[in-house]
Amino acid sequence: MYNMTGGQLSEKFFELYGNRNNNPVLFFSPGRVNLIGEHTDYNRGFVFPCAINFGTYLAIRKTDDEIIKLHTLNFNFSLETSLTDIKRDEDGEWVNYPLGVFMEFLNKKLTLGGVELLFSGDIPNAAGLSSSASIEMVTAVALNELFQTGLSMLDMVMMSQSAENNFAGMNCGIMDQFAVGFGEKMKAIFLNCDTLEYELVPVELNDYQLVITNTNKRRELTDSKYNERRSECERAVTDISSEVRINHLSEINIDRIGIIDNLIDNETIRRRAHHVISENGRVVQAVDLLKKNDLIGFGHLMNESHDSLKDDYEVTGFELDTLVYEARTLDGVIGSRMTGAGFGGCTVSLVHKTKINNFIEKLGSIYKKKTGLTADFYLPAISPGAGYLL
Ligand code: GLA
Repeated sequence: MYNMTGGQLSEKFFELYGNRNNNPVLFFSPGRVNLIGEHTDYNRGFVFPCAINFGTYLAIRKTDDEIIKLHTLNFNFSLETSLTDIKRDEDGEWVNYPLGVFMEFLNKKLTLGGVELLFSGDIPNAAGLSSSASIEMVTAVALNELFQTGLSMLDMVMMSQSAENNFAGMNCGIMDQFAVGFGEKMKAIFLNCDTLEYELVPVELNDYQLVITNTNKRRELTDSKYNERRSECERAVTDISSEVRINHLSEINIDRIGIIDNLIDNETIRRRAHHVISENGRVVQAVDLLKKNDLIGFGHLMNESHDSLKDDYEVTGFELDTLVYEARTLDGVIGSRMTGAGFGGCTVSLVHKTKINNFIEKLGSIYKKKTGLTADFYLPAISPGAGYLL
């Protein structure tokens, strides 16, 4: 991970595109870590993510033609395409995220012109920290500023989600783009994914620190398993609706969770519904505990969230479970869970500040022994949402 300065990014930009008399405009969009509330967003439930200081940098400059020129410093990749001839990259390349956002602007009949873009990101790839939402949102915010298209942050969040669903082909919910757009320093976002009402809640961790641990497991099958879970939830809605008409699982409040026992015959589908309904309850409770500064209680709910994602929703796997259950045996750890879609990616743990070195050393070594993989550790700061690079 690195934090690129604006000067370094501009210098690279000039090396690529020349014309040093005309400065690019610089933007930054964070990634996100979800503290609790997993696989609830597409069930119109509650989530509690925050934006983090790892993200996507973008230098961008208008030209006087109709061409999009695009480079990234992360891979050896460049592309030139006409604004009127944007095509999806069928190899599923990351470039579909910015291109999808261009398409969203054009579909809304917003006027764009030619641009030169240089991206650079420090979110580890496919780690469940929303590098895709970060790329989408930095593109949206930059185009909105450069071409004065007058979009609100919520417009851009929805367009970025739509770009990911319809252009990049990943059927995600709204949590990631929302967190990346609406993040604020040292605050987490308590979002109702049905009404899109949200509250920014101060994250005061006193002697504790959030530690993100990357399994570095290659995420395979994530998209197909993710879609499978979405259909299972739809099936649960259909089953429940035979007696109680609902459109989304999150309409069932935690105190009515018992109704699924009678209404859902299939045991797997019942467990999926159990996760979603109980997870919504945990988010509400966790936010309340955080406001009361009860970090132990908050950590306990993080643990319960992971257990439910493992047993009921089955989206964890050996690597995530090893990190989480070993973490919980270590001194100074009061909560540990997977974050993001699962099947690989990262965990998030609440660790006492004096025990972080021990945590990294012990967990790294046992994880290596058990899985053969090397974990990476990050200490994120909770950061503001997408905007100009300050
Ligand atoms: C991915 C998706 C989100 C959300 C999480 C699981 O990150 O992009 O919309 O569904 O998985 O909570």
